[in-house]
Amino acid sequence: MAIIREILRSDRLMLREITVADLPALERIFGDPLCMRYYPSVKDAAATRDFLNRLAFESYEKNGFGLWAMIDRKSGDLLGDCGITLQETSRGMEPELGYHLWPDYWGKGYATEAATACRNHAFSVMGLLRLVSIVSLANLPSQKVAGRVHQRREIFSKQNAAGETVERYLYISEKNSGE
Ligand SMILES: CC(C)(COP(=O)(O)OP(=O)(O)OC[C@H]1O[C@@H](n2cnc3c(N)ncnc32)[C@H](O)[C@@H]1OP(=O)(O)O)[C@@H](O)C(=O)NCCC(=O)NCCS
Repeated sequence: MAIIREILRSDRLMLREITVADLPALERIFGDPLCMRYYPSVKDAAATRDFLNRLAFESYEKNGFGLWAMIDRKSGDLLGDCGITLQETSRGMEPELGYHLWPDYWGKGYATEAATACRNHAFSVMGLLRLVSIVSLANLPSQKVAGRVHQRREIFSKQNAAGETVERYLYISEKNSGE
């Protein structure tokens, strides 16, 4: 039997590496129009698997981190994902904290709890000095989470998949400035 790697625990949550058994629940999130309303489009099952191959399974191998499964410690339910991946920012590729929850679990503080635990883990266990979150200008729920987790924000421009220049908020935490 495969060993499942636990990453961290918080009051109500446990984060662990994603496994293939989690794929149907995650495909539901990335295929849902409400969950993906601030993204260019929903992802079908194949696109979700490709995305998670890169940002979870291959990232675990290459970097030792990636998107992790967010588990309710009490019920054992998978609520969504939260984790750290390498993303392009104004400074090149750097560790970025992201989160996606199934809508039944919104409005309960789970994303903030998981993201705060990831930020603390990044600084105290992974040895990172800076952690960011990239958030679209329209995604107010995510901005609220990032605003609670990070210390400050900037705006930066990046190219999207269609080659257009788009603006994004870059929320920033640095280890030695009041983490
Ligand atoms: C972004 C996303 C994770 C935010 O979810 P969320 O439920 O608003 O965020 P949290 O889990 O941190 O919950 C915070 C809310 O729960 C409320 N809450 C209720 N019970 C709470 C508790 N026990 N503890 C803390 N907060 C609680 C808070 O008041 C807060 O409400 P507010 O944001 O209106 O002030 C969610 O909208 C999502 O998954 N979206 C789709 C994917 C996405 O866009 N991801 C971000 C990409 S950049």
